[in-house]
Parts: sequence; C-alpha cells; structure tokens
Amino acid sequence: MSEIETLEQEALTAIDGAADEAALEEVRVETLGKKGTISAQMKTLGQMSDEERKVAGPALNGLKARVNDAITARRDVLKREALNARLASETVDVTLPGRADPLSKGRIHPISQVMDEITAIFADMGFTVAEGPDIETDYYNFTALNFPEGHPAREMHDTFFLQPDADGTRKVLRTHTSPVQIRTMEVQEPPIRIVIPGKTYRQDSDATHSAMFHQLEGLVIDKSTNIANLKWTLLEFCKAFFEVDALDMRFRPSFFPFTEPSLEVDIQCDRSGGEVKLGEGSDWMEILGSGMVHPNVLRNCGLDPDVYQGFAWGIGIDRIAMLKYGMPDLRPFFEADQRWIDQYGFRPLDMPTLLGGLSQ
Ligand code: DAH
Repeated sequence: MSEIETLEQEALTAIDGAADEAALEEVRVETLGKKGTISAQMKTLGQMSDEERKVAGPALNGLKARVNDAITARRDVLKREALNARLASETVDVTLPGRADPLSKGRIHPISQVMDEITAIFADMGFTVAEGPDIETDYYNFTALNFPEGHPAREMHDTFFLQPDADGTRKVLRTHTSPVQIRTMEVQEPPIRIVIPGKTYRQDSDATHSAMFHQLEGLVIDKSTNIANLKWTLLEFCKAFFEVDALDMRFRPSFFPFTEPSLEVDIQCDRSGGEVKLGEGSDWMEILGSGMVHPNVLRNCGLDPDVYQGFAWGIGIDRIAMLKYGMPDLRPFFEADQRWIDQYGFRPLDMPTLLGGLSQ
C-alpha cells in the first residue's frame, strides 16, 4: 500500500471511530491540523523535483479533500445523533398538570389592600403619604402631642417601653401614628395635607386587639381649615371606602390631648340581621377619633396658632378591614396561615383605584 493509501485508511478509520464532535476534532487536528500527518506530507512537496511533484501534488490534494469531506460528513452524523439523544432525554410529558403562575397564586394581605384603598381615596383628595419610625421618643409620642407629664392619658396607651438609653430616657414603640404629625409639621410649611399609614403597638391582645396593629392618621393644616372641612373629608372617605352612596355620620364630643375640640365619629349601621350592614338602619358604630389640632401642638412645632389651624384624625386600619370584609377575628391577620390568605387575600394586579373600583 502506498503511503498515501495508508494515511487515508488510518484517517478514515479514526474518523469513523470518533464517538463525538470533540473526538472528531482531535482527529482533524491530528491529520489536517498544522502539525497533522497529512499537512506534514504536504510540506514535503517543496523538496520534490518538478516531475515528482506533478504526481504527488494532486494525489496529496485528493487525499486532503477526501479526508476533509469524511470529517464534514461524520460531523453532520454526530450532530444529528447528539440532537436526537437530547430530544429523547428532554421529552415533555404534555399530560402533566400545568403549574399555576405566581400572579394567579400570590395574594395581597387585606391590610396592604386596605392601606392601598385608603391612600387611593385620599390621594384623589390631594393628600400625600407621610411616614415615621416605629421606635419613638417619649417627646414625639406624648409630650409634643400635649400629653402633660404624668397625665393619665399616657397610661391609657399601654405603652411598650424599651430599655433606658445611656441618659436614662426610654424610647417607646409608638402607641399611635400621631407622632408623625409632629415630625411633619416640624419640617413642612403649611398647607399640609397628609395621611400616615403605619404600624402601632400596645400591650393588648384578644380577638379584636393585637399588640401590633395598624393606624391611619390624617392631618390638614392651613390658614382657614375648619371643622366643616373635617366633617366633609371624613364623610367622603367613609362613603368611598365602604362603597356606599349615602351614610349617616354622628360626631360625639370626646377628649384627646392633641385636639380641641375632640370628636369621636360614629357611622350608621344595621345590626339586626346578625351581621353588620353599614349605611343602613338606625344603629351606630364608633369608627375613628378626630378633632381640631390643639394650639399647643401647633406651638410645639413652631407654628403660630393665630395664623394656622387644622384638623386631624386617627383610624384603626385592622378594624375597618374586618368591618368591610366581614372578618370576625383579628388574630389570623398575623398568623401567616396560607389557607386564610387564600380565602381573604386580594389578587396582586387588581390595584385599588377610585375609577376602576376599590375592591372590585
Ligand atoms: N391617636 C389616637 C389614638 O391612637 C387617635 C386619634 C384621635 C388621632 C384623634 C388623631 C385625632 O389625629 O385627632 O387613640
């Protein structure tokens, strides 16, 4: 056998035997690569006489072309085999049940939903949202809000106190969202129109109280803001929130250190049928506290009470969520039970808007 035939035999056997593309590439490098066996033969052409080259040249070129073709053909076969193997191993069982996508499974917690509903309503009235820290100083939680030292109203708040700081003062877990009124008035020139949703804390827990709960505070300060504005704002809010066209509202005199006068607000309801229906009947349900901001509070924030006046209110978010959505017990709100959230949660992309509907 001539040398060319031997080379060809060896190359073709190796090509046939290559089990995958990587092995085939190795064969290519060993034969046609720069230092390959066939390339080495090609290099000998330079030392040949013209006569010899005329015979050996075409023979070597033929060899090179045939080996090249064999490699290309084998590569196609290997590619197809690899693809078939992959398709066989990655088959999809179309009879398997589909997986629910996160959007159809995920749920928004009723507290988040109700906060979104409330902020949508007040945003429509020109309010912005303000926030403050959960851990407060005694000054912001009580003193600046006109709770005198030792006043019994402080004790009514069942406050959680933190360990004393180095200077002996004790921070508190805020007992209400009212301290954010002070923080806002300290830094913002009136007119002020804010709502303040957030977590609040008191040592209290049963079916309708939890040690951590949520409030929404409201504050309006301007030069001529008056009690009629307060009544209108709260009535419009209650109608929009409870999604009723008409609702009777009753204002009772009350006491909060930070408002004068202070008003407790009741809404009309019907309890005769076992469940509470709002906007019907002749019964009343207490729903929030409010009043005209006390002159001392304005002064504590550097505002002149002879120039500025305004109103404020505070409402329990958990309670109005329970009322609106008929939830009898507050405790499951914070137990992270998937069955409860499946039952009472809201679909994630159904954002509450006044135009599109608050709760759909
Ligand atoms: N901070 C009060 C509480 O937690 C609620 C409240 C009542 C807030 C009257 C107000 C208000 O802004 O004017 O009991």
